[in-house]
Amino acid sequence: MARLPLDVRLEADGKAVVRVKGMTRRAIIRSAPVIDLSRKRSRGEAPVVYFDGALSPELRRLGEGKTYLIYTWGCQMNMHDAETMAGILELMGFRPTEVEEEADVILLNTCAIRENAEDKVFGELGRLKTLKAEKPGLVLGLAGCMAQEEGVVARILAEYPHVDLVFGTHNIHRLPVLLRDALLGKEMVVEVWNMEGEIVERLPKRRQGGLKAWVNISYGCDEFCTYCIVPYTRGKERSRPPEEILAEIRDLARQGYKEVTLLGQNVNAYGKDFQTRRYTFADLLRDVRRIDIPWVRFTTSHPRDFDADTIEALALGGNLVEHVHLPVQSGSDRILKRMNRKYTRAGYLELVRALRDRIPGVSLTTDLIVGFPGETEADFEATLSLVEEVGYDAAFTFIYSPREGTPAAKMPDDTPLSVKKARLAALNERIARIAYEKQKTLVGKTLEVLVEGPSKKDPGVLTARTRTNKIVHLAGGQELVGRFVRARITQARTWTLYGEVVDQKAPALV
Ligand code: 5AD
Ligand code: SF4
Repeated sequence: MARLPLDVRLEADGKAVVRVKGMTRRAIIRSAPVIDLSRKRSRGEAPVVYFDGALSPELRRLGEGKTYLIYTWGCQMNMHDAETMAGILELMGFRPTEVEEEADVILLNTCAIRENAEDKVFGELGRLKTLKAEKPGLVLGLAGCMAQEEGVVARILAEYPHVDLVFGTHNIHRLPVLLRDALLGKEMVVEVWNMEGEIVERLPKRRQGGLKAWVNISYGCDEFCTYCIVPYTRGKERSRPPEEILAEIRDLARQGYKEVTLLGQNVNAYGKDFQTRRYTFADLLRDVRRIDIPWVRFTTSHPRDFDADTIEALALGGNLVEHVHLPVQSGSDRILKRMNRKYTRAGYLELVRALRDRIPGVSLTTDLIVGFPGETEADFEATLSLVEEVGYDAAFTFIYSPREGTPAAKMPDDTPLSVKKARLAALNERIARIAYEKQKTLVGKTLEVLVEGPSKKDPGVLTARTRTNKIVHLAGGQELVGRFVRARITQARTWTLYGEVVDQKAPALV
């Protein structure tokens, strides 16, 4: 067992007695997260193993007549992990439910990126305590990035003993066994791996909707931006074998999916860990382009690793849509350096120019952090001017949130929260103004869109997306859902376009 942050004594029966914050708890702790270990990186290529779908009859029947519910926070990677958890649970005989009171298993698949994401989860755990008291047979599990944090596991043991199961991002495939132990035993079961282990292929997935699918291309991150928890919660960067990715996408195409999004914490570093072959992200894009899947997106890009060959691959077009999410984080070189982003403002702008040159009409979106430790008014002004210079179609903006164990959490930070909030508001206002200007240029144009379904706010209206991922509201019948149509844009708002269908058959195929 790895060194634990907790005071743990093993009993003869293999169970553990944990002393945490002066309290004693009995738990089954197989392994728990330790920040110093999750920082480490092993060398070489990650071995690949195949998920053994042939569960023992005991595990296969465990969920018969039972239901599950998964709550997920965070990024698309995490949403996709929830689809894997659901796939595994269904293999075990569980069925989904949306009614909390009916669920036999509730999993909270968590995000650790900012403190407010974590606060929400602790709030939910507190709320679910009543349900657990009324229904002692309920298995309440904590999964995802928060489970990979040393401090979180200690807090769960000390303050949330009604939690039955804690597992992390590296051992989702162990869910059948862990769930059995949690269902049959009385103690909390904790198994969180510090190191990533093998790449597990052929995991079952229960995807939602049937139109758009996420496909992992790599796991983990080796960038170590100083503010970011992800390299600790998701481990070393590991690329899936291209054959597996391509086979999965071909299969999705056969099933009638219209769009795939390739997922990685840093897609541009795809393949850099391969030892026995040379195969890059650009190679992957060229190969995916040959598959008969109408649209292909990818996220997230790191400006430092975005190379010229990738731009050339994207310039081929076809099913590779013209949208790049390119997080910049700050427009100030001083702050970029303190963030360990490894590019400069000028280098980033050069990349933007190259993308615009080679991919006409490319839409650019970004992530920005305000109030990083030591950010001055001049640094913030540099961010505003960069936003202006690039002219983003949209951006996600955040106030810096210190994360335990990351280098930035130790940097002095004397900017008051009120100033950070004012900067965020000013930035959002600037971004919205630019986005609206961009939207207005589309009025009168006819665009190819994929109709996704009824609008959330008004079920009488359809929601569709352009190749550049912009939302378009259209009038039209249910029969258009899942189809590509051509729509004339009639009106623009900051984040929504309005249009009318002009042709029910758009040539969305390669
Ligand atoms: N505080 C605020 N925002 C953060 N992000 C990552 N870590 C932090 C943090 N500690 C933002 C970055 C990243 C996005 C996914 O979340 O902008 O691109
Ligand atoms: Fe949140 Fe990052 Fe984990 Fe995604 S990888 S769930 S954004 S902490």
